[in-house]
Amino acid sequence: MDDRIERIGVLTGGGDCPGLNAVLRAIVRRALLDQVPVLGIKNGWLGLIDGEVEPLTRHAILGILPRGGTIIGTSRVNPLEPPERLQKIRENWARYGLSALIVIGGEGTLRAAHQLHQEEGFPIVAIPKTIDNDLAGTDYTVGLDTAVSVVADAIDRLHTTAESHHRVMVLEVMGRHSGWIATCGGIAGGADIVLVPEIPFRLSQVCEIALQRKRSGRQFSIVVVSEDAKPHPEEDFLSVEQRQAIYHHERLGGIGHILAEQIERCTAIEARVAVLGYMQRGGSPTAFDRVLATRFGIKAVEMVKAGEFGRMAALQGLAVTSVPLGEAVSQIKPVHPEIYHAAEIFFG
Ligand code: F6P
Repeated sequence: MDDRIERIGVLTGGGDCPGLNAVLRAIVRRALLDQVPVLGIKNGWLGLIDGEVEPLTRHAILGILPRGGTIIGTSRVNPLEPPERLQKIRENWARYGLSALIVIGGEGTLRAAHQLHQEEGFPIVAIPKTIDNDLAGTDYTVGLDTAVSVVADAIDRLHTTAESHHRVMVLEVMGRHSGWIATCGGIAGGADIVLVPEIPFRLSQVCEIALQRKRSGRQFSIVVVSEDAKPHPEEDFLSVEQRQAIYHHERLGGIGHILAEQIERCTAIEARVAVLGYMQRGGSPTAFDRVLATRFGIKAVEMVKAGEFGRMAALQGLAVTSVPLGEAVSQIKPVHPEIYHAAEIFFG
């Protein structure tokens, strides 16, 4: 390890997801190979502002590989607003003798990390995590695979009840700005239509699919809708108030209920809704997420060691590599059109 690396700080910011503890474990184990201590910064940026930390010793990480959530806590606190926070961060950075900081986050957390590195010179390395998989520069973020498994399992369960009652089941899933969870979950569960934020949907198409299925003897349908999916302006069925309530809040949600009502009205087929919500973010990570988290954790320590600051660990194909942090936060990564196309083949 580089002689100048005396202590590495690590924080988890933004919404939690399965696999964060697996990342922490890998960081600690890799750093220990070089006898470098790791300091856990509690509750995202807040720990660096308020001076709340916890040494991540070998003992502290025992048994955490399969555990969901994050043992060091998280928050959505912005380190740059109000501006006084920056001074506190500088003071605590010096007080804890940090040589580098590994930031594990989604779009919001990594945008702040990029700014702290670029404008204030903090030596920061990033790891992408979010069930939404909307960070550019990496094929996968930690958490997506587990969320997709939860969605697939939910669809399997909804299938049997939808079939028994001859109903349309609408499943609302997470995914702020991007339809990765809906699309991959929909393919894995065999959804009959998947509605994503990237493509405004037409109610007439959804209803036609349900009616067509009924005509051909399949008396039930599964509709997966992303929390941020919107009706096409030419077929908008939302009132101004409904639009405000569903999309214009920090917390999205509600399109599933209204869509189910509309489908029932248009098709005269009974419709029900299930909202998966935080189930998608909780619980034990899949094997894929554990492996990805482990590889990212190791890579981040090696990036610190090589002085590769202002970069994010990334999965490109089968390789774990790194990309400039600025590139990762420059745009929201939409669901890949080829993957959505694969889901579309099964519509109807
Ligand atoms: O960014 C991940 C995510 O799970 C989104 O899919 C969802 O809209 C949001 O977080 C919910 O966040 P919160 O924990 O703030 O309610």
